[in-house]
Amino acid sequence: MRVACDSCGGLLDVVYDWNRLRPPTSFEFFQRKWAQRNDPLALSGVWRFYELLPFAPRERVVTIGEGQTLLQPSGGVGKFVGLKGGQLYLQYEGLNPSGSFKDNGMVAAFTHAHTIGAKRAACASTGNTSASLALYCSVTRLMKAVIFIGSGKISYGKLSQALDYGALTMQIAGDFDDAMARVKEVSAQLGIYLVNSVNPFRLEGQKTIMFRVLESLGWQVPDWIVVPGGNLGNSSAFGKAFVELHQIGLIDRIPRLAVINAAGANTLYELYEKRGLRWNAGRPDHSSVEQYYGEMDRQDRRASTIASAIEINRPVNLDKCLRALEDCNGVVREVTDQEILDAKAQVGAGGFGCEPASAASVAGAKLLVSQGVIGRDERVVCILTGHQLKDPTATVAYHTTDQEQFNKVLGARGVKRANFANRAVAVPNELDEIVKAIQLYS
Ligand code: F0G
Repeated sequence: MRVACDSCGGLLDVVYDWNRLRPPTSFEFFQRKWAQRNDPLALSGVWRFYELLPFAPRERVVTIGEGQTLLQPSGGVGKFVGLKGGQLYLQYEGLNPSGSFKDNGMVAAFTHAHTIGAKRAACASTGNTSASLALYCSVTRLMKAVIFIGSGKISYGKLSQALDYGALTMQIAGDFDDAMARVKEVSAQLGIYLVNSVNPFRLEGQKTIMFRVLESLGWQVPDWIVVPGGNLGNSSAFGKAFVELHQIGLIDRIPRLAVINAAGANTLYELYEKRGLRWNAGRPDHSSVEQYYGEMDRQDRRASTIASAIEINRPVNLDKCLRALEDCNGVVREVTDQEILDAKAQVGAGGFGCEPASAASVAGAKLLVSQGVIGRDERVVCILTGHQLKDPTATVAYHTTDQEQFNKVLGARGVKRANFANRAVAVPNELDEIVKAIQLYS
């Protein structure tokens, strides 16, 4: 399948003729679908918004009930971030069937693949895309999954999913950027359908995360959307979602977008905030991007962060993300692994929990409030992209009393302290001692 333009190399984009399609003129149209929960397309949190991503015939649409996710206000996390009470919301995309936001996009790409009769689908992954593809293949039996992962680069929670769901799992000696380059070659050579977010239909599905955020807020537009940035599919999709809603008249303003890189994988931050790269009416300065990539290669600089999901130095959706930043008056920040893990502990202590990459959004929101970019009384939605159980190694190392384990997993990444650790209490297997310890600590 073609994902890029033959002449300029830019990624393809899905564009709708809204005049002809006549999308709904009010959000109530979607609200009414809540009364039809026995219809799988109304139950799905993606296909409930079918009319806003109408690229496939209804009878070919695939669903496994994705997108049943929640937006919750979090007082505790809001206080940590520095916002006034009631202004911080967490969008829990970890509640998807494979435990991450990827299912929103995967179901759309998978639907397109099914529409054109694909029998094999491939992706490179830091773990969540592969888990999602493997799940759709195992549940529907419509395709065979071929996944490419960097050896030792994905967390056990995610690897275990791909293996359990029966995907053909290729472990490449390299990192995500290497795996991404290879999967493009292999899928072109063998004619395998590619489901990475270079695939424009992935982004169509991921728009619905924003539709559900609006739905949960009673169709009010928040002031800020804060999202971690890796391959930049989400940020690109979110911008597209708001621009289209605005075009068709369903919203009257567009929220601001903050994309948060890990400091150890900060290409977007470096290019956008430090070197001034901009969308520039569709002509971003690619020579400065190539120059930056050349510098990285010469210094053999590899992405490195505990947030393995966003350990990416060559984001494939860079251009589309620049467009989203322009459309949403966006900003980009970087946060350290220390900040990510402390924010993650706060999310866990005051909500359903998330994996490290997701907590970059909360750490980034905190930074932006401290800088006065986000006002204390603004309404902020942080996207929690993946489930807490995706990466137990990072969580346990953060809370451990075992200094060696802490040093090995986190110290090596520059994390000095676990500021919000909840340490297990070691007790002998004796009733009196256990009772004493509970009285002492509770
Ligand atoms: N958060 C999580 C949990 C992710 O798995 C990813 C990406 C991101 C954030 C970044 O999102 O690419 O849209 O900017 N994971 C991909 C994967 C790369 O292979 O699972 P993005």
